[in-house]
Amino acid sequence: MNDERGSFSSQLGVILASAGSAVGLGNIWRFPTEVGRGGGAAFILVYLGFIFLVAMPVMISEFIIGRSARSNAIGAFQKLAPRKPWIVAGIMGVLGGFLVLSFYSVVAGWTLHYTIASALGQLTTDNGQQTTDFAQAFTVFVSNPWLPILYLAAFMLLTHLVVARGIRHGIERYSKLMMPLLLIIIVLLMAFSLTMPGAAEGIRFLLQPDLSKVTPDVVLGAMGQAFFSLSVGIGCLVTYSSYFSKETRIVKSAVNVCIIDTMVAVLSGFIIFPTVFSVGIAPDAGPGLVFITLPNVFLLCFGKMPVVGYVFALLFYVLLLLAALTSSISMHEICTAFISEHFRQSRRRAATIVTIICLVLGSFCSLSFGPWQDVTVLGKGFFDLFDFIVTKFLMPLGGLLMTLFVGWYLDRRLVEQQLTNDGSIPVRTMRPLLFLVRWVAPAGILVIFLNEIIPLFI
Ligand code: PHE
Repeated sequence: MNDERGSFSSQLGVILASAGSAVGLGNIWRFPTEVGRGGGAAFILVYLGFIFLVAMPVMISEFIIGRSARSNAIGAFQKLAPRKPWIVAGIMGVLGGFLVLSFYSVVAGWTLHYTIASALGQLTTDNGQQTTDFAQAFTVFVSNPWLPILYLAAFMLLTHLVVARGIRHGIERYSKLMMPLLLIIIVLLMAFSLTMPGAAEGIRFLLQPDLSKVTPDVVLGAMGQAFFSLSVGIGCLVTYSSYFSKETRIVKSAVNVCIIDTMVAVLSGFIIFPTVFSVGIAPDAGPGLVFITLPNVFLLCFGKMPVVGYVFALLFYVLLLLAALTSSISMHEICTAFISEHFRQSRRRAATIVTIICLVLGSFCSLSFGPWQDVTVLGKGFFDLFDFIVTKFLMPLGGLLMTLFVGWYLDRRLVEQQLTNDGSIPVRTMRPLLFLVRWVAPAGILVIFLNEIIPLFI
């Protein structure tokens, strides 16, 4: 029945594709940055709370909406609640899809550049003449007017090629290929990192919570990070779950995705912090962590053990690139599914339209690090503006609307049918689960959202 839209062929495909969406720059680049700023283990504890009590219920709500409607993010609300204002959640999602893909691809483009540079040995060379001022090298690169845009375009093209091939032959096939590879690389890198001399201090930083570091800001940051990392709140998982089959287990898939995503985030911490501490660099470097701090680490490592240093650097950026790609295809799919269904366009044509729009918007974001540094809207450059709109507004508001929609508006029987696959699998946790969806998640999101938004206006 679903042949025209396409569908995932197996439960494994569902989990790997959804985990692929979740695991991304958010885990390997953003999470360690936030951990570094939020004081290590204390941040992780708060983060775990948000993942399982707030973000996972949103994920389950999105799965219920998507699979019962079998439509794109906007179409789903049109089908389930015709002519009702709930459609706003879908519209915010598709808008969010365009914005998030645009700024994400900028960082993904940088990653592509660093992957190539590390393969060519430019990050680790022993001729003694190379500039080791990675901070300056990074600034010079990102402020170049056209080079980062070239990499951005190359990355967008990769994303496009996967999405244009459709669900089974594109998204599912490549997720099945890339996700296992990604997990293998993570294990290899951990092995490198944990055996570095002095790694113990980094491990302590990740495991010993200093609760005094848990300021309100850290709590706000933790929820934003949890939403971003699980790709929830902007209709991405509504779209993916519209391709689930009727045998797909919604709760099991959500739990698995949350576990894989959290594991990858924490393991990335175990890759990054032991090495960072081992070479005596401060852990709170901010966004420059993987593009400035880590190259320094790789170079030091190279000085002592050339082969290890080279392989470490290369594998790390390949890992980052794979993670970015499995996420960007899911962002692209939000918009492609919408354009193709709403405007009745072929998948290829819809994908091309999305790619072109995001290339233009992405270039704006990229230029805000260079020639457009002074161009601001609401006091922010395009990159920061898009990031702000998506992570501070669209994701929490979208998540709030979707949990309210499933918890309070949708027919309770439909919800239970979705969770139990028409009664064929028992869900023993039904009551607590519905409690999370109806009360805990919306209340949690609302409190955080208001705390974040009110100070902006006073
Ligand atoms: N979850 C992805 C990451 O961690 C980012 C993402 C956000 C993907 C929104 C899809 C939708 O990098």
